Amino acid sequence: MEKLIQRAGSIDPNLLKKDFPVFERKVHGKPLIYLDNAATTQKPQSVIDCIDNYYRNHNSNIHRGVHTLSYESTVMYEDAHKKVADFIGADKWNEIIFTRNATESLNLLAYGWGLHRLEEGDEVLITIMEHHSNIVPWQMLRDLKGIKINVLGVDDRGDLKLDELPDLLTERTKLVSIIHASNVLGTVNPVKEITRQAKEVGALVLIDAAQSIPHLPIDVSEIGCDFLVASGHKMLGPTGIGFIYGRESLLEDMEPFMYGGDMIEKVTFEKSTWNELPWKFEAGTPNIAGGIGLGAAVDYLDGIGLQNILDHEEDLLSYALEKMSAYDWIKIYGHKSTTESVGVISFNVEGVHPHDVAGMLDEEGIAVRSGHHCAQPLMSELSMDYTARISFYLYNNKEEIDLCVETLKKVKKIFG
Ligand SMILES: Cc1ncc(COP(=O)(O)O)c(C=O)c1O
Repeated sequence: MEKLIQRAGSIDPNLLKKDFPVFERKVHGKPLIYLDNAATTQKPQSVIDCIDNYYRNHNSNIHRGVHTLSYESTVMYEDAHKKVADFIGADKWNEIIFTRNATESLNLLAYGWGLHRLEEGDEVLITIMEHHSNIVPWQMLRDLKGIKINVLGVDDRGDLKLDELPDLLTERTKLVSIIHASNVLGTVNPVKEITRQAKEVGALVLIDAAQSIPHLPIDVSEIGCDFLVASGHKMLGPTGIGFIYGRESLLEDMEPFMYGGDMIEKVTFEKSTWNELPWKFEAGTPNIAGGIGLGAAVDYLDGIGLQNILDHEEDLLSYALEKMSAYDWIKIYGHKSTTESVGVISFNVEGVHPHDVAGMLDEEGIAVRSGHHCAQPLMSELSMDYTARISFYLYNNKEEIDLCVETLKKVKKIFG
């Protein structure tokens, strides 16, 4: 940790790369260039070691034993909740519920809060930028409960049409559920201002921070939101772990999502009562190793400093945009305004299917994504079926961007 803090101030991606064992391998005989960070991030040795140490030395079920291993596992797992709470500025650690991922977090809120608190005619406001995981659960509630979904659009530059927000917020708006940073355009939405306006009509606010929390400092008390969700695997943590932040009073008032062991206080055949927070929402044996691994990921990110990560990515982003914009056969989506962005660029090479683009980049050891990025409404709004997408993180450097652009030139020559 001390080693990492000494590095803070500016990021040296080549030094940081040494912390990630995956970069020792080659892909098709070439050094790995990993530009698929919006899908998932690589894992530092400290996270891998932490999980290894847990299984080697502490493995035991939590909360159920008085023996030493069980006590240690319980403390480590609870500590991980505390680390996440501190990381996002939550008042209390019991406001953090561990889930499998952002998708499960959103479903938990749709079932645990929406199913019981929304009535026919109530409105949920989302944006056209949402990932499918922040659309489909609300459609489930529309079909089950007769709620209405309102959608805030985007303009040609890829920014939310904020001038339309006041008309979409009504006294029936019970929840505003918004993506913080777009996984397609990189746009960072003004969640604090949206929250302020939502509160004026008495709506709750849920932030999907899956693409923002790994890349920029977040403080839930400063935003003023009621809920926030994210996935551990996009922030250097293991797969299979995510979380919800929820205001304590709201979580206390909510119904459980899953029922069974660990989430109960007392069970009789007549009636059962629920455990205290956050366990009321963590039924069954949770992903203990994953939760502890997420805690180690938070330690690593804290050691580097989120502002340093953001500065580094902004530098990479403007470098890549300048390089790519030099070619009129590369069409870049979004990034046309001064709005803040995370390091995500969706693009197409004229006349070439994005899968072919991604395939040829892979031949050079460069990992990028191609497809609809689980955001089909946004894709169709911006008249794109599929795009290729590069996305940066703290271990990427400018030489990698140069190599990527050089390979795109080859792609154009061969396919275009
Ligand atoms: C903005 C956003 N929200 C939610 C998700 C869902 O994350 P997960 O698949 O980890 O549940 C993603 C995944 O790409 C995303 O980009």
